[in-house]
Amino acid sequence: MTVPFVPDRLLFGGDYNPEQWPREVWAEDMALMRRAGVNTVTIGVFSWAVLEPREGEFEPGWLDDVVALLDTNEIGFFLATPTASPPPWFTRAHPDALPVRADGTYVSHGSRDTYAISAPAYRQAARRVARFLAERYGDHPRLRGWHVHNEYGTIDHGPHAAAAFRRWLQGRYTSLEALNDAWCTAFWSQRYDDWEEILPPRTTQYLANPAHAVDFKRFCSDEMLTACTEQRDEIRTAGSTAPVTTNFMLPTWDHLNQWDWSEQLDLASVDHYLDTPGPDGEAHVAYGADLTRAWGGGPWLLMEQSAAGIRDGARQAFKDPDRMIRNSLGYVARGSQGALFFQWRASAGGSETWHSAMVPHVGPQSRTYEGVVELGALLGRLQEIAEPPRTGPVVEADVAVLWDANGRWSLQTPHLPNDELDYTTEVRATHRALWRAGVAVDFVRPGADVTRYRVLFVPTLMALDADTVTWLTRYVDAGGHLVVGRFTGVADEHQRVAPGGYPGRLRELLGVRVTEHLPLAPDETQELSDGSVVEQWTERMDPPRADIVAAYAEGPLAGLPAVTRRRVGDGAATYVSTRMVQESWDGFVAALLAEHDVRPVVPEAAGTGVEAIRRRGAEATYLFLLHHGDQPVRVAGPGHDLVTDSPTDAGIVVAPGGYAVIREAPTAAWSVTPLPPA
Ligand code: GAL
Repeated sequence: MTVPFVPDRLLFGGDYNPEQWPREVWAEDMALMRRAGVNTVTIGVFSWAVLEPREGEFEPGWLDDVVALLDTNEIGFFLATPTASPPPWFTRAHPDALPVRADGTYVSHGSRDTYAISAPAYRQAARRVARFLAERYGDHPRLRGWHVHNEYGTIDHGPHAAAAFRRWLQGRYTSLEALNDAWCTAFWSQRYDDWEEILPPRTTQYLANPAHAVDFKRFCSDEMLTACTEQRDEIRTAGSTAPVTTNFMLPTWDHLNQWDWSEQLDLASVDHYLDTPGPDGEAHVAYGADLTRAWGGGPWLLMEQSAAGIRDGARQAFKDPDRMIRNSLGYVARGSQGALFFQWRASAGGSETWHSAMVPHVGPQSRTYEGVVELGALLGRLQEIAEPPRTGPVVEADVAVLWDANGRWSLQTPHLPNDELDYTTEVRATHRALWRAGVAVDFVRPGADVTRYRVLFVPTLMALDADTVTWLTRYVDAGGHLVVGRFTGVADEHQRVAPGGYPGRLRELLGVRVTEHLPLAPDETQELSDGSVVEQWTERMDPPRADIVAAYAEGPLAGLPAVTRRRVGDGAATYVSTRMVQESWDGFVAALLAEHDVRPVVPEAAGTGVEAIRRRGAEATYLFLLHHGDQPVRVAGPGHDLVTDSPTDAGIVVAPGGYAVIREAPTAAWSVTPLPPA
């Protein structure tokens, strides 16, 4: 991303799939969109079969009509390339382009995302349809950007993948000798003598080779990225200069190294579906938003969210309109240039019939559509915030969390000391603790400029390359406080353990030498000397060359160090050898923040249920107050609330479930006072 994505207004709308509906409905769609202030839709995402009904024969008349209709109604659009869902004719003509699962099963069409990413026929067809769309619509004045594909993520283990994987490995290792060494193939007689012997990690008799598994994940991300940039290049060759994005997906789709991808895109965008209807959903909004802002390195876009449903195991919980609005503001506050949804109108049939939409089955006489209208009007009033600051970040944070796709992939390899150690769970636990403390948070990648952060958290990162070790060491040498979680740095980038004691590559920096990993049973907890409760994991270590912050208070490790801190000049390296339960971790993190004077965005909001986020703009800063609590509050300070268009100096009341977006006077200080229930 070289130029920040700055639309002329905050984008509002969603996936629009008019090909599912008769034309009378299109007219109603336009009227309802206008009423709701929709200014952006994504069209064409799953339209390949109607756009190109036979190989090489395009029938774009309907799409011309959709574009014309949007134009007449002054609605902008992202044009999607439909390559996530090849039509039946494609798979029939090119059965070799069907994806193969690890167990060798060919996946059939009948759903979506059924393609073998490395199959030449698929890649060629994808380029062709991207080129066709770019030539036809690439200079349309209402084109806001290109939405290449949809949520890349179909993993193929078939022959095309095997060939491409070998090429990728040759590029990475050059010689088979280097590969054999990196993969430790001497174990279990896996030595490769010919590149052709190497396969994708398919179903095996027993445990797979971890280095092989992680390299395959890296390859899949790179291979899908190449497919994506091929489409981007077709679009550019056709002369279209509109921004190019592809929608990442959270929380479950973990196949990409989004840092690398974002470098190739003009805009980072994400589909974010909350995974809990409970209060933790708000922390999840913050997590998805902070992560995508980090990937994009600036303003980004919420491409999809659900209008009224939150998946809760087997059932669909209802998302109330006020929560939908607060959540949307939570993304915008953290740098999203709008709030888009999947999808505009709920489908009457098909696989996602029961997915919520901006216009539900019951129609516009619904709380959901009314909420949509309210959100559209609200975003219209916030237009000025889309202009990013001339210098510095959109959100300013003093603490950061390291996020690395490789960390996730390493922990997905089998037979670790405790397979319950899950990367995303760990990262989210740390982010949640910071969110609960009310501070702004950045995510960073290995090697990033971290000089501005007072505390850098590495929740866990099993495998570290030499550069990352040097980078972390420099951070501490320069006066930063590094907080490292268990099972970090135990291996190199090939998942090979550094012998001589854990955490091998960080022993020096942390001043500890761990000799045993001692996982706890699933329900087991223990106490530490500072009263913290821990679970899942403990470690025995030698007397550290570091201060002991807390010791194990019970069990076989009673009296031995659990949490240590090594001081290095003005800097420090803390090691946490166990997993604190969330409440204990919250307390530990809050104390660290206080020690480093990392203050909440609005300290006075603590305990009121009001979430405060500050977004920086070109002319001012904007304080977003999202009230998730159940008692009204009075907020006062020098500024102007854009929601109600009223000054805040004498105070405004924010009701439970409500919100305010305040253009702040410079150096504004805020008071937040709970009021008796209305
Ligand atoms: C997204 C996807 C949409 C739709 C949605 C349902 O991940 O991009 O097409 O399937 O999920 O939640």
